[in-house]
Amino acid sequence: MGAEEYVPDKAGITGLRRAVQECRGCDLYKDATQAVFGEGPADAAVLVVGEVPGDQEDRQGHPFVGPAGRLLDRALVEAGIDRAQVYLTNAVKHFKYKPAERGKRRIHQKPGRTEVVACRPWLLAELDTVRPDLVVFLGATAAQSLLGTKFKVTQERGKVVELPDRTERAVATVHPSSVLRSDDREAAYRDLVADLRTAASVLG
Ligand code: URA
Ligand code: SF4
Repeated sequence: MGAEEYVPDKAGITGLRRAVQECRGCDLYKDATQAVFGEGPADAAVLVVGEVPGDQEDRQGHPFVGPAGRLLDRALVEAGIDRAQVYLTNAVKHFKYKPAERGKRRIHQKPGRTEVVACRPWLLAELDTVRPDLVVFLGATAAQSLLGTKFKVTQERGKVVELPDRTERAVATVHPSSVLRSDDREAAYRDLVADLRTAASVLG
C-alpha cells in the first residue's frame, strides 16, 4: 500500500505526470478513468492543494475544471493571486465515487486517511519539484495530508503556518465546494477570499 514505489526520482513534472498513470498505491485507480495530476508552471510561487478530482476532472484529466474550480479561479483573482503563478493539484490523484443506485451518476466520495497517506508521495514529489514559496490547502483533507490529523482548519484557517520538516510556509482555508454548499454563500466566499489574501501577503 502506498505510492512510494511508483514515484520516479528526479523525473520533473512531466515524468511524474506520466508515471502517476501506472500507480497502484491504493485501490482508487481501479474504478477511475485516469489519474489527475497537478498542473501549472513548474516554478510556481504558490502550490494549491485540493482534495480529490471530481467527476468532471476524472473525465477530462485536469484538476479543478468543474464548478468548484470556477469558484476557486474567481477567488484567486479577487485575492490578487495570479493564476499564472499557481500550480494546482490534489491530495489524492484518483476520483473516488460510488455509483448511484439508479442511473449512471457517480457520487463523489471523500477519500479516507488511508488513501490520503497512500497518495502523499506524489504530493511530496510535486512539492520537491515545484519548490513553491507558499502552499495553500483547500479544506481539512488537503491540510491534514501534510499538517497531520490534529490540524483543525476551522481554528487555523487563514493563518500562516510552517510545514513540518520542510521550509515552505502554508495557509489553510476551506474547500471551494463547501462555499458552494454553504447556507450563506456570500459570507463563505468572502471568508475564502480573505484567507487567500493572507496567503497572497506572504508572497509580498
Ligand atoms: N475538488 C477538488 O478538490 N479537486 C478538484 O480537482 C476538483 C474538485
Ligand atoms: Fe496511486 Fe494516489 Fe491513485 Fe491511489 S489515488 S492509485 S495512491 S495515484
